[in-house]
Amino acid sequence: MEGNKKVIFSGIKPSGDLTLGNYLGAIKNWVKLQEEYECYFCVMDLHAITVKQEPKDLRRRSLELLAIYLASGIDPEKNTIFIQSHVPAHSEAGWMLTCSTYMGELSRMTQYKDKSKNSGESISAGLFNYPVLMAADILLYQTDLVPVGKDQLQHLEIARDIGERFNRIYSDTFVIPEAYVPKSGAKIMDMQDPTKKMSKSEENINGYILIMDPPEVIRKKVNRAVTDSLGEVKYNEEQLGVKNLMTILMTITGMSIKEIEEKYEGLGYAQFKNDVAEAIVSELEPIQVKIKGYTGNKAYLEEIYKKGSEKANYVANKTLRKMQKKIGFIPR
Ligand code: TYM
Repeated sequence: MEGNKKVIFSGIKPSGDLTLGNYLGAIKNWVKLQEEYECYFCVMDLHAITVKQEPKDLRRRSLELLAIYLASGIDPEKNTIFIQSHVPAHSEAGWMLTCSTYMGELSRMTQYKDKSKNSGESISAGLFNYPVLMAADILLYQTDLVPVGKDQLQHLEIARDIGERFNRIYSDTFVIPEAYVPKSGAKIMDMQDPTKKMSKSEENINGYILIMDPPEVIRKKVNRAVTDSLGEVKYNEEQLGVKNLMTILMTITGMSIKEIEEKYEGLGYAQFKNDVAEAIVSELEPIQVKIKGYTGNKAYLEEIYKKGSEKANYVANKTLRKMQKKIGFIPR
């Protein structure tokens, strides 16, 4: 295979339109890593159905997500780009790992607790089991590093626990992965309530920027972003709105906190907000054009995901066979 390169696995759920948080916390970071590592970037459609999806929207979003990966600069020649449901090993390994995972550890997951808060008895078992499938995704590829935003760290921890437990019960089978969180942009906050993570499921649309938001919408949302009455561009815990906008600017432009603070000293927020908006627009606009190009070329997307799933199936099945054998299943 690709020599001794370390392995990266990551993915995004096609369950809603992607936000600037997904882009800065995950995709932008992947693009930087693709030269150095052997990378698997996956469209997590099995995870998307843990909440109800309209079939035609799921189909459209899955292809659009693939187009977003490509448009952002993930090179299909260098990386394996594929769709999770095209590799049945994920579901099979997910089941085997479910059988050695505890209800107790799953019920402690904060994402599950948040999402299930108002659902009572009608919460799907898939949502509860979600982290086990995620562990399967990662462990099947003998992954060293998982580049994700901060909100996924707890899921990474349990993936490590699940992998270590299997190794202990059945002898060494999996590489135990590490999380890899970007230095800047690992948690982009909501622009209306900067104590919360920016999320596509938020009700107030001014709280988030979508990757596909047109420039004038981006400008309007940044302009409306919550700040404070201090009027100083400073990076601290008292000015969470400003801090978030600074983080966005830093992650896109590579400027440091000090450079930004100095540049806007004594200038108030108007120029600063304007520059943040322009930075986002100039980052996203060319990507949007490419996304539209790729989504219009279904045959090309099909070529990419078919080729990706061939390689992914091959690698994942090797690990799956080991798991089956160690568990005691009769070889097929
Ligand atoms: P998902 O689809 O919710 O989010 C995809 C990626 O975007 C990051 N992210 C953010 N980063 C910074 N600021 C934000 N506001 C923000 N919002 C989201 C997430 O941390 C994530 O990296 N469970 C995963 C999908 C998954 C997966 C995997 C990831 C399934 N199997 C295996 C890695 C490895 C999820 O729901 O991501």
